[in-house]
Amino acid sequence: MTDYRSVNRANWDERAPAHAASPDYGVERFLADPAHLSEVVRFDLPRLGKVTGLRGVHLQCHIGTDTVSLHRLGARMTGLDFSPAALAEARRLAAGTGAPVDFVEADVYDAPTVLEPGGFDLVYTGVGALCWLPDIRRWAQVVAALLRPGGRLFLRECHPMLWTLDDTRPDGTLAVEYPYFERPEPTVFQEQGTYVATEQTFTHTVTHEWNHGLGEVVTALLDAGFELTMLVEHDSAPWDALPGRTVGDGHGERRLADRPWRLPQTYTLAARRRD
Ligand SMILES: C[S@@+](CC[C@H](N)C(=O)[O-])C[C@H]1O[C@@H](n2cnc3c(N)ncnc32)[C@H](O)[C@@H]1O
Repeated sequence: MTDYRSVNRANWDERAPAHAASPDYGVERFLADPAHLSEVVRFDLPRLGKVTGLRGVHLQCHIGTDTVSLHRLGARMTGLDFSPAALAEARRLAAGTGAPVDFVEADVYDAPTVLEPGGFDLVYTGVGALCWLPDIRRWAQVVAALLRPGGRLFLRECHPMLWTLDDTRPDGTLAVEYPYFERPEPTVFQEQGTYVATEQTFTHTVTHEWNHGLGEVVTALLDAGFELTMLVEHDSAPWDALPGRTVGDGHGERRLADRPWRLPQTYTLAARRRD
């Protein structure tokens, strides 16, 4: 396998500053309003439950907007990401908002060696996190290793069905083109831009990604010692996953303009590590 980490890290390092500067991530709203929460975290408030006092880790925390939001809800947060540029933005956000969040630079698979195994009550992750990882079973074992017995995972993730779609056909049809199930080899994408509004042009345009079927994610968690406590599929996503085909709801979510019930775009999953 090529060194997928170097390829993907170069891509993220270049995009993180553009994301932090983009109105889509709304960093300035965190600075202006001490009660502001990211739209991603706000969307899941009815499902998240109480996090006050919990020791939480946000895996693949990117520029820290969801991490700081969880801190604002009362959790004691650590963020982990392998992109130094993303963590520089996350640390700037935490300093600017006075949020005492630790940020740790590491690969997800190394999390139990750089963080305290069994030291966390909550693992939070998602929205474009799992697609960067080749092996979902190994990820589930990492999450289990970080949590104390009884600790919980909260995952809001892009639906694997969405990742199968090619929306660039000249005839305008959506085609099932990419793997639904996990494959040993990555799908290699060439993408000039990014998923937020930005004027910036990028030189690192290649990514190596993997899909993980919903059943594969659930089974990996069950086998790693979890019980599933929630699984909800959503017809919306917190970014424009299919440009030109979606409408926004004014609260950060977008769904297909035409019959949105045809496609799950994301899901929320919660699981508890068995005692
Ligand atoms: C789409 S972002 C996560 C989204 C996050 N929910 C957000 O929007 O703020 C994906 C993040 O995963 C990180 N990442 C990708 N592969 C990783 C790996 N193997 N280990 C740690 N972090 C990784 C990237 O650096 C990036 O910050």
